[in-house]
Amino acid sequence: MSVDASILASDASGDAPARTWQAVCRVDDIPLRGARRVRRAAAGDVALFRAGDGHVFALLDRCPHKGGPLSQGIVFGHSVACPLHNWTIGLADGCARAPDEGCAVVFAVRVVDGTVHLDAAELRER
Ligand code: FES
Repeated sequence: MSVDASILASDASGDAPARTWQAVCRVDDIPLRGARRVRRAAAGDVALFRAGDGHVFALLDRCPHKGGPLSQGIVFGHSVACPLHNWTIGLADGCARAPDEGCAVVFAVRVVDGTVHLDAAELRER
């Protein structure tokens, strides 16, 4: 399942550089212990994951091994098992668990009032 990015919101609070957040879906649109994709024209889709404890993560939908679609993998804990060769990828850092090596691109994500947001600049540039 996929969604198109839509609403924009700015956040200049805290010490971190200001981000412009883009609403992409509701948390409930992501299956529990599952994923959905945010379509992008050129740079590859972003996979949104919802762990069993409700945490939401965002990675480029491309395994660091041979490019498998991580959104089609099995989510367990804060990890996903790639559907192609079963590597375990950490959802927080995007990195393969030893002995495998490599990391998927990680996207900043936030959830406000049940709406999932991604950083608009990262969506354009990563
Ligand atoms: S492409 Fe993901 S484990 Fe091989």
